[in-house]
Amino acid sequence: MTTGSLLVIDLVIAVLAAAGWLGGGAASAARRRRLTLALAAFALLATVARAVTVTALARAGWWFAAEKVLIAAPLSLAAVVVVAPRLLRTPPDIRSVAVPLLFAGYAGSAALLVTVLHGYPASMGAGLLAVAGVVAATAVSWRALGARPSRTVSRSALAVAVTALVTGVGLAVAPGAAPAVPHGHGYRDAEAVGEPTRRFTLTAGTATVDVAGRDVRAWAFNGQVPGPELTATVGDVFEVTLHNRDIGRGVTLHWHGYDVPNSQDGVPGVTQAAVLPGEEFVYRFRADQVGTYWYHTHAVSDVGVRMGLYGVLVVHPAPAAGVDATTPAAGVDATTPAAGLDVTVPVHTLAGLPLPVARVEPVEAGVPVRLRLINTDSTTHRYALAGTPFQVAAIDGSDLRGPTPLVDTAVLIPAGGRYDLVFTAPATPVALFVGGRAVWSTGPVSTATGAWPVLDPLSYGVGSPVPWSRFDREFTLVLDRGLDLRGLLPRYAHTVNGAADPDIPSQVVRLGDIVRFTIVNRSLEVHPWHLHGHHVLVLSRNGEPARGSPLWLDSFDVRPGDVWEVAFLADNPGMWANHCHNLPHADAGMVLHLMYE
Ligand code: C2O
Ligand code: CU
Repeated sequence: MTTGSLLVIDLVIAVLAAAGWLGGGAASAARRRRLTLALAAFALLATVARAVTVTALARAGWWFAAEKVLIAAPLSLAAVVVVAPRLLRTPPDIRSVAVPLLFAGYAGSAALLVTVLHGYPASMGAGLLAVAGVVAATAVSWRALGARPSRTVSRSALAVAVTALVTGVGLAVAPGAAPAVPHGHGYRDAEAVGEPTRRFTLTAGTATVDVAGRDVRAWAFNGQVPGPELTATVGDVFEVTLHNRDIGRGVTLHWHGYDVPNSQDGVPGVTQAAVLPGEEFVYRFRADQVGTYWYHTHAVSDVGVRMGLYGVLVVHPAPAAGVDATTPAAGVDATTPAAGLDVTVPVHTLAGLPLPVARVEPVEAGVPVRLRLINTDSTTHRYALAGTPFQVAAIDGSDLRGPTPLVDTAVLIPAGGRYDLVFTAPATPVALFVGGRAVWSTGPVSTATGAWPVLDPLSYGVGSPVPWSRFDREFTLVLDRGLDLRGLLPRYAHTVNGAADPDIPSQVVRLGDIVRFTIVNRSLEVHPWHLHGHHVLVLSRNGEPARGSPLWLDSFDVRPGDVWEVAFLADNPGMWANHCHNLPHADAGMVLHLMYE
């Protein structure tokens, strides 16, 4: 069983146990003897079952079980110790077990709240608040049921509750580590890149765009969604002038997966100010990475990208000497440096409508085709190429080593991720399906691809040893949800190590460090992780070392229960966003920064 399903099962059992105790308490207060005994037995069983799930979670990693072992387990134990002997004595008046059962219910509910609202790391403050809540609720029920606790009992209950409450609140609001410090612009001089050879102008503005015959309100670059495709050949220098016509909340350009100098990274409040209506900003950087990338606004990126402020960025390799690129094969775009067909497929959901609209493009047999698949949405998409064997030539812009042919195999691309699929066009039609919808094809194909196995990139291609034997810095990022009380209004944030942006401490590295991240997902949602300015090498997932081609990624899905180990060379000084690329999650707190000292 995966750790992700264990997390779900454990949560369900915890809810059932708490509900069983509370229900038993209510039944006994209503003098329903049979029901009381049944519910109590059920709750007891669930509590015992939880010992199994919590142990299994602890074995999968302490991060998954910390608060369950330290807070839920003692509370459950207390509940069982209080309830079991009283039930076993088969009380003549079933009402006499109401308070003990309710106590057990409050204990279970408090532990559940600690998991759901607080999560990782377990803290003394949360534990004490839970105890205070349980004691107070029990005391109130005791009163309400007309029982008369002795003076000593009520006084000590009050004392325990108040002490736990005060200490718990004190510990919970004590300032944590220093928050990230926003800082000035630019580490590296952007002027030093040389004379621009590829100039583009992107004007951001509200627009009505046509999607398969329907008018859709959007935010667009140059009036189109996606924005213009920016292409170059390695060695070119990009100069992209960004204008903002009327996007009130500001716009920037972030080159997703392109490891530009920090000053060009386009993160408002970190590397530049957001470009407001009427303003402009000029980006300049060298095209020194080949491959498939994309650009998007990073100002209110959750809304901005969803509304359409994104586009494709492709950098072609230098044409190989001796290759005659002047006589392209039929159907070949003459601007493509290498002979063959080069298709970009940026998948997006605009106002609920899928982009791009389906396209049929006949291709002569024998023509080499490269499909550049880009997921610009916030959730994973499943792609299936039917009608031909193919290879995954590159992921996130980096070529894979020794990719083997695949047949009837789907690929899952995380939010922000890119896969380049290559094949030689057969005489029969080929079709690319995204989530079951044909997006691009060379002719009619009717194949059900839903049951195809999914490629695991960690075991695809030919491996090679990790280039580093030591790590200078190690960081663990535990992804979860939790209550964030630091803002004006409390919010149910997406958290890293128990904190939400801007209170997640920055990760500080030095130029030249080899840095290792351990990324743990103890939440119930997928978090597509994205570090700016660097590509990370995947070392392992869930304890299994990556065996396939070295994977240099900038976007990877950390699924519930997953533990990823990745590493990178700190070779690009600056202050870099490091966040979940499910952009609503990022907006709800899941952003931290990597900074160079
Ligand atoms: Cu594609 Cu920080 O983003
Ligand atoms: Cu996320």
